[in-house]
Amino acid sequence: MKLILPGGTGQVGTILARAFHAAGHEVVVLTRNPTAAPWRTARWDAQTLDAWATELDGADAVINLAGRSVNCRYTADNRRAILDSRVQSTRAVAAAIADARRPPRVWLQMSTATIYAHRYDAPNDEATGLIGGAEPDAPDTWRFSIDVARAWEAAVAEQATPQTRKVLLRAAMVMSPDRAGIFDTLLRLVRFGLGGSAAGGRQFVSWIHHADFVRAVLWLITHQDLEGPVNLAAPHPHFMRALRVAWGAPLGLPATAWMLELGASVIRTETELVLKSRRVVPGRLLDSNFAFAFPEWPSAARELCDAWRRPSSSRAPLSTV
Ligand SMILES: NC(=O)c1ccc[n+]([C@@H]2O[C@H](COP(=O)([O-])OP(=O)(O)OC[C@H]3O[C@@H](n4cnc5c(N)ncnc54)[C@H](OP(=O)(O)O)[C@@H]3O)[C@@H](O)[C@H]2O)c1
Repeated sequence: MKLILPGGTGQVGTILARAFHAAGHEVVVLTRNPTAAPWRTARWDAQTLDAWATELDGADAVINLAGRSVNCRYTADNRRAILDSRVQSTRAVAAAIADARRPPRVWLQMSTATIYAHRYDAPNDEATGLIGGAEPDAPDTWRFSIDVARAWEAAVAEQATPQTRKVLLRAAMVMSPDRAGIFDTLLRLVRFGLGGSAAGGRQFVSWIHHADFVRAVLWLITHQDLEGPVNLAAPHPHFMRALRVAWGAPLGLPATAWMLELGASVIRTETELVLKSRRVVPGRLLDSNFAFAFPEWPSAARELCDAWRRPSSSRAPLSTV
């Protein structure tokens, strides 16, 4: 297959490019700053239709991951960049699909599991889940993330693509042992004796193992009956305690909400990652008989800790298709 990955230089893009390239597929990453990679890279500006658009012609799938990182403080400037980079790059991909002589068969557009409401009472699947934003206790930063997700998905709906199936990837945190990824960040809390209960510790953390993420993406490319929003999350959301146990550090210092706010401000990020209860479950993947290799967090966390401890040279390829 020929796969085009706009914004494929980041954490998720590298996981996908590595796996599909290792399986012998043709991978082309669209980036604003091309550098040498084991797969082909092409330049785009993530805004305007240009020569890069020809890459989509005759491709099997386009998987758009582009967007300014959300790992920052939500200042007015950062908010604008987070929102605009997602909406504009999505519109650029849409325009390229509309312009293609032989449009890709499927467009997988990254969205986020954060679109759902903060809740403890019931899980959010695609059919019955509550889209967030109206929770009375939700901080303004959480509402912003939901607004971004809605605008992102709306940008996909704007463009009719009669020959291209559209799938919205409402992905939970993709856990891989790669340095500087989300798992690495959570593990750092545990390694430094933190990672105890955060503001009471009742929050559900939705996650997906990188191997299942890659397999689910392949599943969505090949299952032509699946379109629209699809949750990419393991069936069992977890609590931080299982990660401490997997690492061998059953004790973690608990932190109150104000301590976390202070810490997040110091390291220039937001507390949403640890405080929002993202109880998101993969209704449509399970209904279509997708089988998770890592459905349970305790065993996934053990595998990820083991892989994290091994030198990266002995780890590749991490996920396969
Ligand atoms: N990581 C997760 O677990 C997770 C879960 C749910 C949703 N998501 C979403 O999935 C997408 C990919 O995640 P990721 O973790 O791989 O993100 P990432 O590491 O931040 O990579 C995103 C890519 O977007 C491009 N980019 C950055 N700023 C941009 C801008 N202003 N305009 C256009 N492109 C820009 C960059 O590519 P170049 O600099 O090479 O152009 C970058 O490699 C993100 O939109 C993220 O919000 C991630």
